[in-house]
Amino acid sequence: MRAKHVVGNWKMHGSLERNAVLLAALAGHFTAGAAGTGNVGVCVPFPFLAQAGSLLKGSAVAWGAQDVSAHAQGAFTGEVSAAMLTEFGTSYVIVGHSERRAHHAESSALVAAKAAAALTAGLTPIICVGETLEERKAEMTETVVGGQLAVCVETLGLDSLARCVIAYEPVWAIGTGLNASPAQVQAVHAFLRSRLGRAGGEVSLLYGGSVKASNARELFAMPDVDGGLIGGASLSFEDFAPVCRAFA
Ligand code: PGA
Repeated sequence: MRAKHVVGNWKMHGSLERNAVLLAALAGHFTAGAAGTGNVGVCVPFPFLAQAGSLLKGSAVAWGAQDVSAHAQGAFTGEVSAAMLTEFGTSYVIVGHSERRAHHAESSALVAAKAAAALTAGLTPIICVGETLEERKAEMTETVVGGQLAVCVETLGLDSLARCVIAYEPVWAIGTGLNASPAQVQAVHAFLRSRLGRAGGEVSLLYGGSVKASNARELFAMPDVDGGLIGGASLSFEDFAPVCRAFA
């Protein structure tokens, strides 16, 4: 059965002092063995991985990073390898978020290489795909997300891809308060799953883009939606906890 995941993406937010409050609340609420949720995680900025590890250890909340180098080691100033992430107990790593594709010109080939590096180190890559508003208006959604996914299928192969999580995040829905409708999300997820061939039954497909407590339940109720990647609503316990419980 496909696993359910709700993963927070803190982006470039947080401070040691503020994180401590949020992480302690999450660890206290999502205790190991607690029923009623899928896998819960938070992807934090690199400098906060140690703090996340120490405050979440022993709880049901996993922690992760928001990017990883495609390289194993070497002269790559500013980059962080997958092996380094594992030293901090990291489970997840987001790759190919639209903000990195847009602001750092990350190609689908680079995103696939990062996912491969993450898998080699035993991390679960959360591979993001998604179309812009212009692309949706031009009815190119399937072409765009299908193309982004195809590069991962070619690079990783279906057996490796089965160990990844894929997040559909329409760029126009990220941080805008404008979530895609459940029907729009279901349509894209069904399309993505059809492109995963025999891995389709194993890959968890998350939706991301303005998910919050008030819309999570109807989004997660879609048959091909296995959870969410949550930005703004993951920054406070009061907003995030109900989203994590929205599978019930
Ligand atoms: P949002 O961000 O929930 O704030 O829209 C989602 C994301 O970018 O992962």
